[in-house]
Amino acid sequence: MSQTSATYLQRLFGLNGLTAVVIGGTGVLGGAMCEALAGAGAHVVVVGRTLKTDEATGKSILDRIKDAGGSAEFCAADSTQRKDLEAIVAHLKANNRQCNVLVNGAGVNSATPFFDIADEEFERIVNTNLRAVQIACQIFGKDMVERGTKGSIINVASLSGIIALSRVFTYSVTKAGVLNLTQNLAREFAQYGIRVNALSPGFFPAEQNRKILSPERVANIKRHTPTSRPLGDDPQSPFGVPEELAGAVVLMAAPNGGSFITGTNIVVDGGFTAMTI
Ligand SMILES: NC(=O)c1ccc[n+]([C@@H]2O[C@H](COP(=O)([O-])OP(=O)(O)OC[C@H]3O[C@@H](n4cnc5c(N)ncnc54)[C@H](O)[C@@H]3O)[C@@H](O)[C@H]2O)c1
Repeated sequence: MSQTSATYLQRLFGLNGLTAVVIGGTGVLGGAMCEALAGAGAHVVVVGRTLKTDEATGKSILDRIKDAGGSAEFCAADSTQRKDLEAIVAHLKANNRQCNVLVNGAGVNSATPFFDIADEEFERIVNTNLRAVQIACQIFGKDMVERGTKGSIINVASLSGIIALSRVFTYSVTKAGVLNLTQNLAREFAQYGIRVNALSPGFFPAEQNRKILSPERVANIKRHTPTSRPLGDDPQSPFGVPEELAGAVVLMAAPNGGSFITGTNIVVDGGFTAMTI
C-alpha cells in the first residue's frame, strides 16, 4: 500500500469533523491544547471563566486558532457549576454538534502549609481540580453514552499526583485523585467505547503557579530535570513549552491512532519523575 506521510498522519491522528471541548482552554496549557486539537482538524470549544485578550496569552486563543485556519468558539463557564456545563451540552446540541473529545484542563494552585491551610482554600482547590473534573465527566460522559459517541476524555493531572512535591500538598492530593478517577472511568466507560486518559505535565510557567515558582524552587527543579536546556534568557531552563503537550493531547484524542489507549497517564515532564539524584 502506498500513501504519503500526510495521508498516513491524517488517517491516524486527524480530528476532522469532531468537536473538542477544552475546559480551562483559556489558560496557558489549555490554550496550547486548543491549538493542537484545532490544528489536527477539530472544532474547538474553548471553555473558561473569561477569554483573555492580553498579549501574555497571545491575544485570544480564538484569534490564534482562526488565524491558523482552524475552527473555534468560546463558551463562558465556571467548571465547578453543573448548570454551566449542562448549558454547554445544550448549546452544542442546538448547533447540531456533540462533544467527541473532552479535555478537563482547568486548575488552581497555591502554597498550602499542611497545618495552617484554611478550610476554604482546601475546598477551592479540591472543587476546581477534582470535583469539577468528576462533574464534567458525568455530564459530558452521560451525553456521549446517550448519543452513542465513541469519545475521548483527557484529564489534566500533574507530576505532583505521582510523587509528593513540597509546598503544594492540596494540589498534589487533587491530582492523585484525578489519576485514580481516570482509571476508574476508563474501566466504567470502556463498554461504551469512551476512552479516558490522563495527561501529567511537569513544570510549565503559567498563571496558577506563578507565585510558587521562586528562584530557589526553580533551582531545585533544574537540578531534578535531565532535559534542562537553553530557553529564552535561561541557558539551562528546566521548563516545558506548552506546545510540547500537543503530541500527547492529539494522540489521546485521536479515534484511530489512540484507539487502544485508555486508563493511562502520559507524563510530559522532561524526565523529572524518571530521576532521583
Ligand atoms: N503549568 C504547569 O506547570 C502545570 C503542571 C502540571 C499540571 N498543570 C495543570 O494544567 C492545567 C492548566 O493549567 P495552567 O498551568 O495552564 O494554568 P493557567 O492558570 O494558565 O490556566 C488555568 C485556566 O483554568 C481556568 N479556570 C480555573 N478555575 C476555573 C473554573 N472554576 N471554571 C473555569 N475555568 C477555570 C483559569 O481561568 C485559567 O484560564 C491545570 O489543570 C493545571 O493544574 C499545570
